[in-house]
Amino acid sequence: MDQVRYNAIWRKTTETRPAVKNPMLKAMKIGFIGAGNMTQALVKGMVESKEFKPDHIIVSNRTEGKLLKLSEQYQVQTRAHNQEVINECDVVILAVKPQDFSAAIEGLNNLFNENQIVISLAAGMPFSTLKKLIPYARLVRLMPNTPSLIGRGVIGYMSQDKEEEYVSSLMEDLFGGLGSVIRVESEDQFDALMVSCSSGTGFIFELMMYWQEWIEEHGFAPEIAKKMTIETFVGASLLASQSNGVELEELQARVTSKKGVTFSGLNSMRELEMERALRISFEKAAMRSQEISKSTK
Ligand SMILES: NC(=O)c1ccc[n+]([C@@H]2O[C@H](COP(=O)([O-])OP(=O)(O)OC[C@H]3O[C@@H](n4cnc5c(N)ncnc54)[C@H](OP(=O)(O)O)[C@@H]3O)[C@@H](O)[C@H]2O)c1
Repeated sequence: MDQVRYNAIWRKTTETRPAVKNPMLKAMKIGFIGAGNMTQALVKGMVESKEFKPDHIIVSNRTEGKLLKLSEQYQVQTRAHNQEVINECDVVILAVKPQDFSAAIEGLNNLFNENQIVISLAAGMPFSTLKKLIPYARLVRLMPNTPSLIGRGVIGYMSQDKEEEYVSSLMEDLFGGLGSVIRVESEDQFDALMVSCSSGTGFIFELMMYWQEWIEEHGFAPEIAKKMTIETFVGASLLASQSNGVELEELQARVTSKKGVTFSGLNSMRELEMERALRISFEKAAMRSQEISKSTK
């Protein structure tokens, strides 16, 4: 992937979140419609960053249970109706499943205003559909992944706003505490980020399960095998992230001596066309995303 075009903001593990750029951030009211997993992760990151006043975060949900939990845990405000969130907030984050999206804003479309930033988390819903549903707002598509829960997420966004710089700095201010915020320029790139980073988290877990299983077959207790697997993935990732200017290929070469053990394993991976298998899986996931997009149009 071309990192320059993606305008990626990569941070080392030791760095804290970038300084907030928007002087108005603390005064802004940030609303969430839907209080599920993603909202809980985003609210946690925002409150823990201390850049937001909890009582400036306002959440509504279809049913009450998750709202009570959120307000107890983070002292955010809650509302019984989505309409109240739209009326009160400068930024509205639509965090319901794509199939609930239309119902969540049904009859409320005209309450949005053209200064409001409306952020959609709905995976397969392109701008063309969003614009039909919410014609009067500044729309942004956002795609976080679950490591956002621990501040190590990849949070992709796309906007078609005239004030690109303003939106970029706002996204970094809102979500910088959750990981690396990456601007993408087309819906094709948006899908690529979703497949590689959001679904990608699931793909990595699949690989980790194979690792653990193989270790267990050699007599290690499951918890030890799990630890060995996790530490191998974390160790390799951290080494790569902290080896500035060193390509992955070079890091791999450093553990591979000609005709040695790693060399033999890598040769087998290549002969078995592991790359091809992964590529096909990525493409299948991307095709599924396009199918979902078509069905929401
Ligand atoms: N989870 C991920 O890893 C991930 C990653 C990237 C993007 N996303 C996207 O983020 C969005 C939210 O996902 P999620 O995992 O947070 O889903 P979730 O845990 O199922 O939460 C969705 C929430 O929306 C609420 N809701 C449904 N209809 C509503 C309505 N009409 N008005 C108000 N609230 C309503 C649900 O309320 P109830 O409590 O009544 O069910 C539920 O709490 C989805 O579009 C998903 O594609 C998720």
